[in-house]
Formats: sequence, C-alpha cells, structure tokens
Amino acid sequence: MAKTVERIIYVLNGPNLNLLGTREPATYGHATLADVEKLCVDTAAQFGLKADCRQSNREGELVDFIHEAHAKGVAGIVINAGAYSHTSIALHDAIVGVQIPTVEVHISNVYARESFRHHSFTARAAFASLCGFGIDGYRLAITGLAARIKANAQSKA
Ligand code: DQA
Repeated sequence: MAKTVERIIYVLNGPNLNLLGTREPATYGHATLADVEKLCVDTAAQFGLKADCRQSNREGELVDFIHEAHAKGVAGIVINAGAYSHTSIALHDAIVGVQIPTVEVHISNVYARESFRHHSFTARAAFASLCGFGIDGYRLAITGLAARIKANAQSKA
C-alpha cells in the first residue's frame, strides 16, 4: 500500500518565548519552550501531522520562516509572534502573502493586560486567534488547525 506523505505544520514562536519557564511565571507559567514544542509535536501527531517548531527573536527571520513554509508546501501555521504580534505589519503581510491557514496563539490573556497588547496584526492575518489558555492554547490551536485543514485524528489501534 502506498505510504501517505506526512503533512507538516510550522509552529513559530517569536521574541522572548525562548525564556519561557523563567520569564514572568505568574503570567506565562513554568513550562519551558521545550515543553511547548513537545506538546505541539505530540498534538500534531494525533492528527497525522508533523510539527516543525521554530523560535526567533528576530522579526525578519520569522518572515523568512513563513516564506519557507510556503516554499515547502506546509499545510498550516501556528504562530505566537510575542510582542511582534502588536507591531509587525511585515508578519501580517507575510501571512497574508503565503495564504497558508494560520492560527495565532498567546499564552496570556492579552485583553486583560496593557492596552498596547489589545491590537494584533497577526490576528488580523490569521483565520483564528486564541489567548489566555496558557500553553494549552497551542494544543487547542493545533486541534482547530487540523479541523480546518481536514487532518483526521489518528486511531491508536
Ligand atoms: C504573548 C503576549 C505578548 O503581548 C507578549 O509580548 C509576549 C507573549 C503571549 O504569549 O501571551 O511575548 O504573545
């Protein structure tokens, strides 16, 4: 029987998310970026998807990852662009430009925080946005993305 090609999603984390675990634990919890990436890989696998996880503190590198996702035919993107969510027209334009189904995630409830976090350029480019679920937001985002791109839950049998 022909082997089906594994579909890839990109999970992109932006500036300062490499500090998860030690960064403002009252706001972001104690889980590390490695914990987040494992959660994403495991969740994606439940839908027959491979999560390719990247983190960068540089706006342009995040734009490059989005372009690369397009070049590689990636099926979907989950992005937590950190503070760039609130400032980056370049990230907005990259997501709109590649037309890859994208979900925005924030660990914290940005609407319960400072007003400068209430606007997101990446949310405008994404088909959905989640915030306030802690790192479980990544699991929820991948679950919603899988439904959107019609990736089916894998039976464990
Ligand atoms: C964040 C929220 C942003 O406002 C902040 O700049 C971050 C993290 C979150 O996951 O809650 O870096 O994206």
